[in-house]
Amino acid sequence: MGHLLVAGGAGYIGANFVKYLLDHTDDHVTVVDNLSTGRHEAVKALENRFGSRFTFLLSDLGNAEKLHSFLHKNPVDGVFHFGAFSLVGESQYDPLKYYYNNVAQTLALLKTVVEHEIRYFIFSSSAAVYGIPEKIPVKEDALSRPINHYGKTKAMTEEILAALSGREDFVYASLRYFNVAGTDEELLTGECHDPETHLIPIAVKTAMGKRDHMALFGTDYETRDGTAVRDYIHVTDLCEAHWAAFKKIRKSGDPLIVNLGSARGYSVKEVLETVKDVTGKDFKIIEEGRRPGDPPVLIASSEKAKTELGWTAKRSLEEMIVTSWEWEKKNRK
Ligand SMILES: NC(=O)c1ccc[n+]([C@@H]2O[C@H](COP(=O)([O-])OP(=O)(O)OC[C@H]3O[C@@H](n4cnc5c(N)ncnc54)[C@H](O)[C@@H]3O)[C@@H](O)[C@H]2O)c1
Repeated sequence: MGHLLVAGGAGYIGANFVKYLLDHTDDHVTVVDNLSTGRHEAVKALENRFGSRFTFLLSDLGNAEKLHSFLHKNPVDGVFHFGAFSLVGESQYDPLKYYYNNVAQTLALLKTVVEHEIRYFIFSSSAAVYGIPEKIPVKEDALSRPINHYGKTKAMTEEILAALSGREDFVYASLRYFNVAGTDEELLTGECHDPETHLIPIAVKTAMGKRDHMALFGTDYETRDGTAVRDYIHVTDLCEAHWAAFKKIRKSGDPLIVNLGSARGYSVKEVLETVKDVTGKDFKIIEEGRRPGDPPVLIASSEKAKTELGWTAKRSLEEMIVTSWEWEKKNRK
């Protein structure tokens, strides 16, 4: 039995991944999270479900003293790092908050990881590192040219990881997610950002009547229906890819940078129509102008993930919306 550390494991994706690990391995899992955007309810749900196989450590990732004292007594085999702020708009008006949390805290975490000789490190990166890519589907060797501070924090962290990759005792994978949605079938933990900025949960909340209407930004792009096209990936597919990436770097000892997307594009209008079909609810959509910096089309090339990890996204857009809808219904209040 091993021991894995999940940084940011009380958040949406991290908590789904903790459940995935505890369901699919014999390992003990410790979450370290300061609950800045994570949820105590997610921690409780994991504790109730998995009991003594799960530990929660309330801490900043940069709190070296607290992490040292924990890791000294409880050595871990690898770290999965989900902990970050991720609101693009907020990163533009408060860049310091983003560089401090996403870069400085990650540096401190990495220092602790290296000092404790933890060899394997999996980082949650983002398609935001590409900015507005020249070629679609986007391959991993496309230029990294982020156009907002959030994306820059991810690109900077990737540079720091690359600088460490010369070390004998450190191997990393940087996983560049596209748009993550849905929740695990059992609905143990789901998406609860505040404020919510992602299309599917906003549409589902509007379908439920929690919002009076929703905005659709940009209807004059050169796409099939004029709205922006994005690549969506089910969170359970994403979890499977993380585990595959961990096994891969453990075996190869080589660093890895890989996109995690479905390699399929859906327009905003197509997503909204699917939400209406799945939920059986009509809702008001107000068309607005383009948001600055939104690329018309963003679709991942998933060739590298297939070759390197033997992984492809299996779950459909409908499955993302169904689980997101069921989760909202469960949390109606
Ligand atoms: N949701 C998406 O579609 C998406 C897309 C691309 C990349 N990502 C990346 O995936 C990761 C997880 O995203 P999410 O949607 O689950 O976000 P989230 O906000 O739900 O989860 C982030 C978690 O990290 C914790 N955290 C943040 N800073 C911390 C710190 N300094 N110390 C301790 N804990 C800290 C928060 O409390 C929270 O529990 C992030 O790194 C995000 O940038 C997400």
